[in-house]
Amino acid sequence: MEAAVALTGDARGRAASQPGDGGEKTPPERKVYMDYNATTPLEPEVIQVVTEAMREAWGNPSSPYPAAVTFVPVSKVSGQVEVEDILAAVRPATCLVTVMLANNETGVIMPIAEISQRIKALNRKRAASGLPVILVHTDAAQALGKRRVDVEALGVDFLTIVGHKFYGPRIGALYVRGLGELTPLYPMLFGGGQERNFRPGTENTPMIAGLGKAAELVTKNWEAYEAHMRDVRDYLEERLLAEFDKQRIHLNSRFPGTERLPNTCNFSIRGPQLQGRVLLAQCRTLLASVGAACHSDQVDRPSPVLLSCGIPFDVARNALRLSVGRSTTRAEVDLVVQDLKQAVARLEGPPGARGASS
Ligand SMILES: Cc1ncc(COP(=O)(O)O)c(C=O)c1O
Repeated sequence: MEAAVALTGDARGRAASQPGDGGEKTPPERKVYMDYNATTPLEPEVIQVVTEAMREAWGNPSSPYPAAVTFVPVSKVSGQVEVEDILAAVRPATCLVTVMLANNETGVIMPIAEISQRIKALNRKRAASGLPVILVHTDAAQALGKRRVDVEALGVDFLTIVGHKFYGPRIGALYVRGLGELTPLYPMLFGGGQERNFRPGTENTPMIAGLGKAAELVTKNWEAYEAHMRDVRDYLEERLLAEFDKQRIHLNSRFPGTERLPNTCNFSIRGPQLQGRVLLAQCRTLLASVGAACHSDQVDRPSPVLLSCGIPFDVARNALRLSVGRSTTRAEVDLVVQDLKQAVARLEGPPGARGASS
């Protein structure tokens, strides 16, 4: 049998008889709750937070529209997020701005140092009004190992690194400025006390050592890596423009005045039969992709990244992302360009057949 009991604040959690007081002063109507294993009352601070969440965070977190987050578009002129747009999107409750350092498809470098500086200046004004400090995070997964990455110059509070993007093992790390003192960090997983309680689980020592070695190599050699990759990538773009009719090649990641990664070449060969995936499937030498591997489920749609940068639909649909590495050579570029030429010829057939399927 079950009983429902409504308890007043007085009755909850208060011992009506103290040890040694004989119990004689206890008013007969008082109740003593000793069923804390069944449930516990809410602490006043908890009630406050719940009330605030009911008032402020009433949106459905699974709904498709972004309530709890504001997404800021990139400029169709520069391919970059605009600093002014970030600042305009800041709201009183904003506590984090996160922007990738280099885009994984175009290689475009985002103005992180300027964003950090402007947010710091804004934080000084917000502190006077009692508003929360805004922290800045950047995902440097694509930039590290390809160009100089300096947390001091970037001025960020958090920076993500991903080992397998810079010839290291498939683990990552998060840089936190002044961990726990200047910058708060909360664990997402709970259990053992490893890594100062931030991440439970036995440390994967060999992988951590490998990540350290990969980072050391980058610190020592990044200038040479960058120069080599830039040389080979620029040669690739030169050869593409020379071997195909210039009008047919669209270099999707060249935005005037915008810096980009030294190793990334995103381009399209115009033509109704030359969709990126179709063309890659015809290649016999080239192994590359049409965009981010983590979005490879979106098979037939052109890259949203390219579309948001202003690349026309028909061009974006044909896009290929070629990214060169430390050991890619000019001779390999020559092979790839010939491979592409032959693949295009096979797809288009003899000149008279061109556009037949459009
Ligand atoms: C910018 C960026 N961040 C993060 C990742 C995620 O890396 P992973 O899921 O492979 O650890 C990638 C992978 O391509 C990336 O390009």
